Amino acid sequence: MLSIYIELKVILAYYRMDLIKFNNFFYRYKGNQDYALNDINITIPDNKFILLAGETGSGKTSLIRCLNGLIPQFYPGYYKGSVEIGGVDTTSISIANLSTTTGIVFQNPENQLIAMNVEHEIAFGLENLGIDREVITERINQSVMLTEIEHLLHKTPYELSGGEQQRVALASILALEPKILVLDEPTGLLDPSVAKKILLLLQKIQEEKGMTILISEHRMDLVLPLVDEIILMKNGKVIAHDTKEHIINSKRFIDLNISHPIMFSLFSDLRKEGIEIKKLPTSIPEALELLKDFIRV
Ligand SMILES: Nc1ncnc2c1ncn2[C@@H]1O[C@H](COP(=O)(O)OP(=O)(O)OP(=O)(O)O)[C@@H](O)[C@H]1O
Ligand SMILES: [Mg+2]
Repeated sequence: MLSIYIELKVILAYYRMDLIKFNNFFYRYKGNQDYALNDINITIPDNKFILLAGETGSGKTSLIRCLNGLIPQFYPGYYKGSVEIGGVDTTSISIANLSTTTGIVFQNPENQLIAMNVEHEIAFGLENLGIDREVITERINQSVMLTEIEHLLHKTPYELSGGEQQRVALASILALEPKILVLDEPTGLLDPSVAKKILLLLQKIQEEKGMTILISEHRMDLVLPLVDEIILMKNGKVIAHDTKEHIINSKRFIDLNISHPIMFSLFSDLRKEGIEIKKLPTSIPEALELLKDFIRV
């Protein structure tokens, strides 16, 4: 009874609150001296594609673990401050309940896939929620269409390639109709062409579903053209959160020890040589546009 009440509260709260809000949130893992998350204050709005970027160990995965309550409910440790989803403190809702509002896909989908075949895999989360059979069938059909995995429905998860497994993990999460889709290095184990397909699929999902997507991703060249906003992390702190245009033209982004897109690095080096570059490009079309200023016909 209580869980039904809280779920309703979360849904209602969406209509008047920011989606996610961290309020002076600090967290350190049990046995660690340092804060993995150090005074986080961010607000994540609805219907945006947001990149979480930062050097290794900067706290991206830890921040993501807060979004479905794994921190602090599953990972014991010390915390202070709060994380709210739709205006509700995440410590007042179970991880199972939160996972229907915040769907998380991790780097290695193999660990997330447990059922005998793909169709059962997608149905599993819905059945656990006690959803009607007809609704389950409809949700499966929708998410299968969106992720383009019709041909995989009767395969076992172990017969699938890494990219196919990632699509199935995505379909299972989308079937729960979360408000927020969170992906932690979803293409880390995939080759570049498959990674590109997965990232373009996310763009399609965002456009069709109008949901918020938060992604931690090292492949800057592939992900930057897709995102609206960037959250930059360093040593457990959020050091900047702004529109993509503002962040990529900031010194903080340039100085960060991450793999910048090739076009970006090229023009950034030209700027260092004293050449006037209006703004730094993140894709080949943007770079071509900038080059027009230098080419005289
Ligand atoms: N389960 C855990 N137990 C103890 N310490 C942890 C745990 N997970 C992460 N940490 C520590 O918390 C800090 C932040 O780690 P986190 O995994 O959040 O970084 P990250 O930005 O995701 O790094 P990467 O880019 O390598 O994935 C690191 O110092 C890490 O060692
Ligand atoms: Mg990580």
